[in-house]
Amino acid sequence: MKSTLRRVLIALPVLLWFVAGATPAQSPVRIGVIAEFSGPFADYGAQILGGMKTYLRQNGDTFGGRKIELVVKDTTGPSPDVAKRLAQELITRDEVDILAGFGLTPNALAVAPVSAEAKKPMVIMNAATSIITTRSPYIVRLSHTLPQDTQPIAQWAAKNGIRRVFTLVSDYGPGVDAEAMFVKAFKAAGGEIVDSVRTPLANPDFAPFLQRIKDTRPEAIFVFLPPGSQTIGFIKGYEERGLKDAGIRIIATGDLTDDGVLQAMGEPTLGLITSFHYSAAHDSPENKAFIKAYVETNGTKLRPNFMACAGYDGMAAIAEALKKTGGSTDAERFVGALKGLKLMSPRGPIMVDPETRDIVQTVYIRRVEKIDGLLYNVEFDKFPDVKDPGK
Ligand code: PHB
Repeated sequence: MKSTLRRVLIALPVLLWFVAGATPAQSPVRIGVIAEFSGPFADYGAQILGGMKTYLRQNGDTFGGRKIELVVKDTTGPSPDVAKRLAQELITRDEVDILAGFGLTPNALAVAPVSAEAKKPMVIMNAATSIITTRSPYIVRLSHTLPQDTQPIAQWAAKNGIRRVFTLVSDYGPGVDAEAMFVKAFKAAGGEIVDSVRTPLANPDFAPFLQRIKDTRPEAIFVFLPPGSQTIGFIKGYEERGLKDAGIRIIATGDLTDDGVLQAMGEPTLGLITSFHYSAAHDSPENKAFIKAYVETNGTKLRPNFMACAGYDGMAAIAEALKKTGGSTDAERFVGALKGLKLMSPRGPIMVDPETRDIVQTVYIRRVEKIDGLLYNVEFDKFPDVKDPGK
């Protein structure tokens, strides 16, 4: 009799668990989203988070049995100290399982050692300096790298009769990467670099640089600038100071003609040729569905751009990894599940390189054109399966 009672008492919790829903309630997966939500780069955070939310709206918010919870933090701009503190607080206080976001390189680089020490997966949704992924074994990048986007335009320019180029880049990680890759690939293809300048990341005044370029009379300027007020200011100066009229062309990575700010840059961008991995005009069912869902989720204030696409794909990658690990976010298992992952993104097919944890993707050559009265980057050539050539 006594032993029967004991058996019943032991079996009771198991019985209750079955009655409550067959599986034990799993705690949510908390994702700490660190990005720029205020200051001159505020659109970066809005686009990234907008892309993440779009994926969750389209696909539900539970993967591998665990619900996703986003804990969002603002770096306020390129602020490595703030980014690092936020990452530490997210891990110790908010107990997040995964770090994600990162529009700007300095913020990603500041958080990388925190990811390595705390053994937390870190999913990069924009920051594009080549070395970032080497700074923690738990970093996976779903966005792009500057060398990856730059090499195709250098080769395209040389093939299309451009011989003498002046380079102008923003003076920090992605700009330095873009300049190095452009110079290398353009020279290797027979081109000549007439001169190179680097402009400050904070509040650059382009006037003296534009004058110098005008006096040097190159056939084209190769440009990398982080999109926003600076790209708008640069294009304005290019037109106002007569470089366009002097027949000096612009070639650039698509950061310059970012879908989110293209309309604000206006007519002077018409005909501009760039290389990039995402265009809102990319003609595929996945992209059409993505744009529709993005607008339904976030409204029409911003046209979704490459950062929104990377936020969406980053969230998709997290979801796929959780399905594979059965909800585990253990850094080794989670990152292991992401290595070699293939997805059909709104931008086309993408893969996470199992060796470098960096993205492999198609880079398109595009021209700014007007469609139904609006400016778009229309793709007309492509380089498939481009790895980061910087590694
Ligand atoms: C970066 O800081 O890594 C960065 C920012 C904007 C871009 C690309 C890269 O368009």
